Amino acid sequence: MAHTLGLTQPNSTDPHKISFTAKEIDVKEWKGDILVVGVTEKDLTKDESSKFQNPILNKLDAYLSGILVQVSSEEDFVGKPGQSIVLRLPGLGSKRIGLIGLGQSVSSPVAFHSLGEAVATVSKASQSSSVAVVLASPESVSDESKLSSASAIASGIVLGLFEDSRYKSESKKPSLKSVDIIGFGTGTELEKKLKYAEDVSYGVIFGRELTNSPANVLTPAVLAEEAAKLASTYSDVFTANILNEEQCKELKMGSYLAVAAASANPPHFIHLVYKPSSGSVKTKLALVGKGLTFDSGGYNIKTGPGCLIELMKFDMGGSAAVLGAAKAIGEIKPPGVEVHFIVAACENMISGTGMRPGDVITASNGKTIEVNNTDAEGRLTLADALVYACNQGVDKIVDLATLTGACVIALGPSMAGIYTPSDELAKEVIAASEKSGEKLWRMPLEESYWEMMKSGVADMVNTGGRGGGSITAALFLKQFVSEKVQWMHIDMAGPVWNEKKKSGTGFGVATLVEWVQNNSSS
Ligand code: BES
Ligand code: MN
Ligand code: ZN
Repeated sequence: MAHTLGLTQPNSTDPHKISFTAKEIDVKEWKGDILVVGVTEKDLTKDESSKFQNPILNKLDAYLSGILVQVSSEEDFVGKPGQSIVLRLPGLGSKRIGLIGLGQSVSSPVAFHSLGEAVATVSKASQSSSVAVVLASPESVSDESKLSSASAIASGIVLGLFEDSRYKSESKKPSLKSVDIIGFGTGTELEKKLKYAEDVSYGVIFGRELTNSPANVLTPAVLAEEAAKLASTYSDVFTANILNEEQCKELKMGSYLAVAAASANPPHFIHLVYKPSSGSVKTKLALVGKGLTFDSGGYNIKTGPGCLIELMKFDMGGSAAVLGAAKAIGEIKPPGVEVHFIVAACENMISGTGMRPGDVITASNGKTIEVNNTDAEGRLTLADALVYACNQGVDKIVDLATLTGACVIALGPSMAGIYTPSDELAKEVIAASEKSGEKLWRMPLEESYWEMMKSGVADMVNTGGRGGGSITAALFLKQFVSEKVQWMHIDMAGPVWNEKKKSGTGFGVATLVEWVQNNSSS
C-alpha cells in the first residue's frame, strides 16, 4: 500500500469463524463451557413448594441443589429483557450456566437476534469457547418459525461478538469457537439456514469494517481495491471493472467528477457483476451505493455543532451495504439472478481545483445541474452511477445513501426512508426488511416539490428548500433513472451509525441479500 497519511496500518482481520451445530439433546448431557438458557418471566414462576413449574429449569435446578431457585428470588432475576446471570457450578457437564431474560415472551426474529447478542456478551465475559443455547420453553416456538428463530440467534451471536480492533495497538481475540443450538430441530434445511445467517452476518461485519475505517486509510482507491479483492475471492461468480478518472471522463460523468475534483485522492468508479456460474438468468438487478469516503461539504463546508464533519468517514455507508451484500452473495451464490454492484467512489474536499457554489455541471445523461450547494454532493455522484446502472440493462435498481440530514430529522437514528414510484418494488423490499429486522419507512415522492429544484440557468439545482429535504433529494435522483427501470432510493443517513457503540452498523446488507435471494430462482 502507498503511504498513508498518519502512517496508520490497520491490523489485518482474519474473520473469526464460529461453528454452529443444531442439536436435539438433553441439556444435562451437554458438555462445554457455558449452557445458556433463555427464560421468559413466566418460565420463572414457582409452584407451592417453591420449585420451578418449568420442567427444564426444574431439572437443571435438581442437579444444582436448588441454587437457581435461590438466585432467581434473592438476586431479583425475573426474566426481564436485558437481565442475565452466570453461575459457575459443579454438578453439570457444563462448566457454567447462564440465564438470559426474554421478557414476557419471545417470538420475533428481532427478539431472537437480541438473545444471540446476549449470548455473545456472557460468553465473552466468561471467555468461553464452547456454548450451548436453549430455551426454557422450546415448545413456545412454532415449527414454522424454528428455522428463522435459530438463524436469528446465530446472527445475533456473530454480530454481538464482533469488535473492531483493527485500529487499536492491542487487540484481544474472541474465545468463542463453537455454538450448539438445542431444541430448534436438526437436519439439512436448518443447517442451510444457519449457513445463510452466517454468510449474511459476515457481510454485515465487512460493511461495518468499511464504514469504521477512517478516511485517511479508506480512500476511494482502497475502497476499489477492497471491491476487486472480493471479486477475486469469488472469481467463479464475480467480475470487477474499476474505472479511473479518465475512463469516467470518456463516459461523460461530469456530475460525479465535479465532486471528486478537489481531492488529492482520485476517484474510482466500482462495478462488480455477479453471475451464477450455471443456469439461465431471469432477473437483472443493480445495487448502487453512495461512496463518499469523506464529505467535508466542500466550499459549503460543514461547520458548527451537530454538522458531524468528524463522522463523515461514514458517508460511504451506502457502498459498505452494497459491498457487504456482494460478499454474502459471493458465498450464497443464488441462481437465476444477475446483480450489478455500483459505487462512484470519491471524496468531497476543498481546493483550488474543486467545484464552486454556482457552477453548472453536466451529467452523463446530458442533464445540466447548477450546484447551489457543494454539500449536496451525494446526489451528484449517484446521478452518474444511476445512469450507468440503467445502461447495464437491469430490471430493478435499489440505491442506498447517507444522503440527507433531513431524513434523520424525519425518522430519527434507527430507520431508513425509502422512496420509489413503484408500489411493487416497495412491497418487495419491505418484505425483505421484515425478515432482516432492519427498519424501513416509505416516504412520499411528492412530485409538486420539484418546483423547489428549478434553476434559472441549468436544468435543475442540486438542493431545494429546507422543508422536505430528503424528498427533493430523491426527486433529484429520479431525473437520472430510466422510466423503464423499477427504482428505489434508500436514505440511510440515520441508521448507518450506532452512536452508543461508536461504530458503523452494516445497515442495509441483510435486507439487500434477502431481496436478491427473493429475486433468485432458488
Ligand atoms: N452526507 C451528508 C448527509 C448526512 C448528514 C448524513 C448528517 C448523515 C448525517 C450529505 O452529503 C449532506 O451534506 N447533505 C446535506 C444536503 C443539504 C445541503 C441540502 C444535508 O443534509 O445537510
Ligand atoms: Mn454533503
Ligand atoms: Zn454526503
